[in-house]
Amino acid sequence: MLCHKLRIGVLASGRGSNFQSIIDAIKSGKLDAEIALLITDNTSALAIDKAKKHAIEYLAIRPEECTTKDNYFEKIAEELKKRNVGLVVLAGFMRIVRKPLIDAFPNMIMNIHPALLPAFPGLHGQRQALEYGVRISGCTVHFVDEGMDTGPVIIQAAVPVFQDDTEESLADRILKLEHKIYPEAIKLFSEGRIEVEERKVRIKGFIPSDISIVNPPLRS
Ligand code: GAR
Repeated sequence: MLCHKLRIGVLASGRGSNFQSIIDAIKSGKLDAEIALLITDNTSALAIDKAKKHAIEYLAIRPEECTTKDNYFEKIAEELKKRNVGLVVLAGFMRIVRKPLIDAFPNMIMNIHPALLPAFPGLHGQRQALEYGVRISGCTVHFVDEGMDTGPVIIQAAVPVFQDDTEESLADRILKLEHKIYPEAIKLFSEGRIEVEERKVRIKGFIPSDISIVNPPLRS
């Protein structure tokens, strides 16, 4: 049987630190996959520099160049299909994905969100958590559906929220875990260990010790 490496398409709008964490996981051998393409909606995204540095093909596709929002996502789906992408990874992609892309990659699009969904979806998850006054927050990797951060949850990781936290300090603490759980979720997918039943994700061969990743790091 021919066994092909998982080909990943990354969509990013900005800094690209999650994109970098996936590159690092591949380079270090922790993740057996390849990044086929970066697509950005922002021609000055720092993610582009990271793609250039690592010789990853990138495309800047701007919604303004497309006739409709659906047409924008049709175009993205077309470019990803052309390159035999098997998993689409949203890494700080600040747009709601629409039907043409979701239909082209059913349960094959992942997103990372900086809060414990279903709490604090949408923009500024960290700020929302602080303003609400929760004691624990974190990050969530989930499959993308047509809603705003509503798809099946794959992995979550929790961090404490301290009384003197600022949006930046909380975002930094969460980001460290984002960089761990996103490559981990992609690895599970690449190993064929993720099953989706309605809105629930089952991880095949899951053993309780795997869950150590959700332990909140203690403040030093
Ligand atoms: C990350 O914190 C990610 O969770 C968040 O944007 C940041 C992107 O950082 N995504 C969302 O808020 C999506 N709703 P990065 O560009 O350095 O990966």
